[in-house]
This record gives sequence, structure tokens and C-alpha cells, in this order.
Amino acid sequence: MNAPLNVAVLIGSTRDGRFGPVVANWIRAHLERRDDMAADLIDLVETPLPTVFPVLGQPPESAEALELLSAVSPRMARADAFVIVTPEYNRSFPAALKNAIDWHGREWHAKPVGFVGYGGFSAGLRAVEQLRLVMAELHAVTMRDAVGLQAPWAQIGMDGTADNPGGDAAAKAMLDQLAWWGHTLREARTTRPYGA
Ligand SMILES: Cc1cc2nc3c(=O)[nH]c(=O)nc-3n(C[C@H](O)[C@H](O)[C@H](O)COP(=O)(O)O)c2cc1C
Repeated sequence: MNAPLNVAVLIGSTRDGRFGPVVANWIRAHLERRDDMAADLIDLVETPLPTVFPVLGQPPESAEALELLSAVSPRMARADAFVIVTPEYNRSFPAALKNAIDWHGREWHAKPVGFVGYGGFSAGLRAVEQLRLVMAELHAVTMRDAVGLQAPWAQIGMDGTADNPGGDAAAKAMLDQLAWWGHTLREARTTRPYGA
């Protein structure tokens, strides 16, 4: 029951020249400094997912699609909690992230989700607020406190070193909530399987 939570950290951007991995490594470093969590970084560039969906309710027919899914879906299923790292694109989140979300159903159920948003003026928070609506449909529980990094390229070096005390405090608040919900929901799913 007290084993560290397996936290899947999902990188939402796949753009050439993206900053997403730098932000993801920054939050992963926060996670790894804790003894109550272990991180599993899911990068949709390294493990891309198919973009053509099968007939509703049926598995994909193509072997290639099944192989791509096999590199991601079991890790999502094993996760006790998620951290979604998302940039803001046109006041929302990237299409590649929505694709990864939509490929999964029960993998999200009764699990907590924390957010790290980043972008320009908005610090990615408009993308985060839209993701809360999506997560509600997937029976996931979103953390009240999110991290929002405005122009993170001015705060986090490419080597991951950062000088952003506000960001560190926001990361701690979000991860503390994720730990509480993660342990609580893992225990609850064990004793009372979620029936939706
Ligand atoms: C297509 C596109 C749309 C964007 N729209 C917004 C936006 O609406 N608000 C914002 O604050 N930043 C916006 N940006 C800036 C991005 O959030 C910023 O460049 C961020 O680094 C993108 O993440 P990535 O580098 O991991 O792809 C946009 C960038 C792109 C490429």
C-alpha cells in the first residue's frame, strides 16, 4: 500500500524543435526527489500512436497500430497517477495529446491527473483548463493546483537547471495533492474496484 506511486509523465507536444522535453525533465526531477513517487516518462515522439481510429468498440485491425499501442497502453494501465505536460497551442492543447488521451479509456478511470502547462502569455493555463473537461469524461480526478510556466525557456536551461522558485513551489503543491489522491485512489481501486 505504501509502495511509491507509479506516475506516468506524458509529454503533450511532438513538434520539431519543441521545448516540451525540457519541461518534462524538470518536473520529473521534482518527482524523483520524492520517495513516494517513481516516474515513467511517455514521449509521443519516441512512442507515437496511430491517428486513425478503429470502428467504435473494436480493436484496431492493423498489426502496426497494435504494435504502436503496445508501447504505450500497458504503461498507462500500470500508472497510479498521471502528470500531463502540455503547451498551449491556439488557446488549447496539442492534437497529439488529445489523440493519446482518446486512445485510452479505463487506463484513466479513478486515477488522479496533475498538470504542468507552459506557453507564452497564458503560461499554458488555458490548455490546462480545457484538459480538465476532457479528464472529467474519463472518470479521472484533476488536481486543483496546476503548474503554469510562462516562457519557460527563460526559466529552465536546456540542461534542466532552473531558477524559478515560484515554479518549484507550484510543482510541490501539485505533486503533494497527486500523492494524496494517488495513494487514496490506489487503495480504493484495490478494495472496491471502480465500476463505471
Ligand atoms: C501552433 C502554436 C500555437 C500557439 N498558441 C499559443 C497560445 O495560444 N498561447 C500561448 O501562450 N502560446 C502559444 N504558443 C506558444 C507555445 O506555447 C510555445 O511555443 C511552447 O514552447 C510550445 O510548446 P513546444 O515547444 O513543446 O511545442 C503557440 C505555439 C504554437 C506552435
